[in-house]
Amino acid sequence: MPRAQLTVHTTESGPVIDRHIFGHFAEHLGRCIYDGLWVGENSSVPNIRGWRSDLVAALKQIRIPNLRWPGGCFADDYHWRDGIGPREKRPRRVNAHWGGVVESNAVGTHEFLDLCEQIGCEPYLAGNVGSGSPRELREWVEYCNATAGTLAEERATNSRRDPWKVRLWGVGNETWGCGGNMTVEYYANEYRRFATYTRDFPNAPLYRIASGARNDDYHWTEVMMREAFKGPIGGPILQGLSLHYYTVPGDWPPKHPATGFDHAGWNWVMALGWKMDEYVRGHRAAMDRYDPAEKTALVVDEWGSWYAVESGTNPGFLYQQQTVRDAVLASLTLNIFINHCERVRIANLAQLVNVLQAVALTEEGGGRLVLTPTWDVLALYAAHQDARRLSVHSDAATLKHDGMPYPAVSATASLAADHTITVTVCNTDPAAPAEITLTLVDRAPVVADARVLASADLTACNTIAQPRAVTTRPLDGVRVSGQQISVSLPPGAVASLRFS
Ligand code: AHR
Repeated sequence: MPRAQLTVHTTESGPVIDRHIFGHFAEHLGRCIYDGLWVGENSSVPNIRGWRSDLVAALKQIRIPNLRWPGGCFADDYHWRDGIGPREKRPRRVNAHWGGVVESNAVGTHEFLDLCEQIGCEPYLAGNVGSGSPRELREWVEYCNATAGTLAEERATNSRRDPWKVRLWGVGNETWGCGGNMTVEYYANEYRRFATYTRDFPNAPLYRIASGARNDDYHWTEVMMREAFKGPIGGPILQGLSLHYYTVPGDWPPKHPATGFDHAGWNWVMALGWKMDEYVRGHRAAMDRYDPAEKTALVVDEWGSWYAVESGTNPGFLYQQQTVRDAVLASLTLNIFINHCERVRIANLAQLVNVLQAVALTEEGGGRLVLTPTWDVLALYAAHQDARRLSVHSDAATLKHDGMPYPAVSATASLAADHTITVTVCNTDPAAPAEITLTLVDRAPVVADARVLASADLTACNTIAQPRAVTTRPLDGVRVSGQQISVSLPPGAVASLRFS
């Protein structure tokens, strides 16, 4: 039976775990915005100004810190002026990336920023570089953030007097692909040009995030840091550089099923998920060469599992189910971000609702809501937001799938301002429980809470008929003796232990 000794050094507190690594992403894709988050004011589904209230409540519960919008690939085809002013006058455009459906523009800047205010999260607006201009992006920033002038007046005419002071701005998305098919050498110059004209307005300094690499394209990161880390007069113009990595078992387009997999399918996802650690290390090393003081953040603004679409759904909508396998993948990935939180300071799970590794699924036509196992993981990890990382020494075995390594047990720990310690841990083995011995050095631990997410059927998922089939329950059998805690985790499980 796998065993792991975990030692947490409770007095050697490390860097702050930025709450923004628990961020999310909502694109105009499939049923994420329309018939997902947005039901419209006249819907029978309870809503506030068009945004469905049960979903907003579920997102507040997991304290989502930021939300990226409107894409993704959609962002580089999006012109913000299409989404302001009276709704009945907004143009209808074809969403060429995602299913060719007609985009009504019912959700635009005002609606999205209202959603963020309802949730209590920070907006992250993704600007159009691929088919836009520096002027268009500059004016969007001014429309959102200026206190005076024609654009501020237009904003007031559209019922918003005070500026939103949006801080987080993406300057293009996947510019190596759907965002313009550019080389990094070309985009680095474009970035400098766009960044120059995305200006700070009073009390609204911008945090600009450049379109970054995918997977292990370290050359992209190297060139961006070399060419754009320092502005022409030496000042920083690159606050964040992105990285996209999806866990996709097999060739493109994804064919691996979201449910109905065997143990090999489980292990494949664990091994591919752990690749994120290798990639983050590689991009960190490239960034360190130009920015040893770690001023520019690595922003993993798209991550998550990507499987075959659910049969009977529009292939352009990327709707998939989820199991406890995705919960363990989320835990593994968040542990990687926490372990690299000196550099990884923002991350966004793709996507929020009804698309890829969503935290919620909704019935078509605006019906009932189902929370996924990934929602539960984010609930367990919320205690780490803005807490100080504690170092965890682990002697867990390394497992392998197809030559790719990953840990049998992965754990992280943090110390919150109220002195509580939270340890989050996952067992990546689908076949055997993990016997964990946890030592909290220099602390007499009192267990305040212990929860686990596991499922006897690894392929079970939450459905309308059984909305909470896979969720957390109290973790039984936690034994404390001095500074040592012993506990057994079921096969394929995520747990959180909180100590007062
Ligand atoms: O999240 C779905 C798509 O994946 C995004 O639009 C794009 O940025 C990425 O390729």
